[in-house]
Amino acid sequence: MADAGVASRRACEDLIRAGAVEVNGSVVVDLPAWVDPQKDRICVEGRPLPKPERHLYLMLNKPTRTLTSAADEPGSDRRTVLDLVDHPAKARLFPVGRLDYDTVGLVLLTNDGDLANRLTHPRYGAPKTYKVVVKGSLDEDAAHEIERGIYLAERKAGRTVGAARTAHIELSVLRRERDSTTLELTLREGRNRQVRRMLAAVGFPVKSLERTGIGPLRLKGVARGAWRELTAAEIKGLRRAAASATGEQEVRTDPTPKKKAPDTPKKTAKRPSGSKRGRPQAEEELAPTQLSRKAVKNAAHGRPNPNKPARGGDG
Ligand code: URA
Repeated sequence: MADAGVASRRACEDLIRAGAVEVNGSVVVDLPAWVDPQKDRICVEGRPLPKPERHLYLMLNKPTRTLTSAADEPGSDRRTVLDLVDHPAKARLFPVGRLDYDTVGLVLLTNDGDLANRLTHPRYGAPKTYKVVVKGSLDEDAAHEIERGIYLAERKAGRTVGAARTAHIELSVLRRERDSTTLELTLREGRNRQVRRMLAAVGFPVKSLERTGIGPLRLKGVARGAWRELTAAEIKGLRRAAASATGEQEVRTDPTPKKKAPDTPKKTAKRPSGSKRGRPQAEEELAPTQLSRKAVKNAAHGRPNPNKPARGGDG
């Protein structure tokens, strides 16, 4: 409904709950109400909704030095993810979430605002997976600190307004070399430059960062800088994940037989209650009085460059 321009997403939900919406002749008041807008007849206050545009889902393998936005700021002319897409419907597409200017890998582009919202809104905690190469040999202690949570500064309007601990993170070491370690991290929140800031805070600055997954979707079959449409199975997987992340049941309003319920979502781990080693974890943007000595040292050596390409990544 929101995509069809009826009202904002929230106002559309209110209309549904108020009984103003009929699907194939039956009033629907429960949310989420899954419909096929191409096939189902939807009426709002008795008036039929026009058939919407077909939803499109593209996977782009973002190269480095590319903005994850539709256009650069006025006065700058850096390449954007949309510059790399030559799909005929590209004007209708937008990227789901953000990667830093120098982060590479999976970017989902769509015109499906509802799915995009479910995959990015912190309330739903859709997992994002990253392959990260850090400088140095990451030890067990640092790995546990990352898993348990690190205090990261919260900024508003360019000012630090406090610090909040990161939620539980799944971490596995893929490869350990003398001067670098390759990790896989799965996050369920998307704070600004989160991966880079967490690793800098424990003394292991990021050398390269690649997003390899969004929910069940995996970066595959697409070279760096190229894109492809998602397969029907990939779209279905994303929709299921978005529905199950909310703990909501998929409500089908069409007459086809009900499908098997989506897999039970993995429980999001509770936030850890504190560091066993009793030393504060912090990162570079906190006031010095709030920082451990190690973090102060990290801040001095590993502060991310706040200059031009400072668009935040979303996890
Ligand atoms: N975390 C980061 O630090 N950067 C990104 O681009 C994505 C996640």
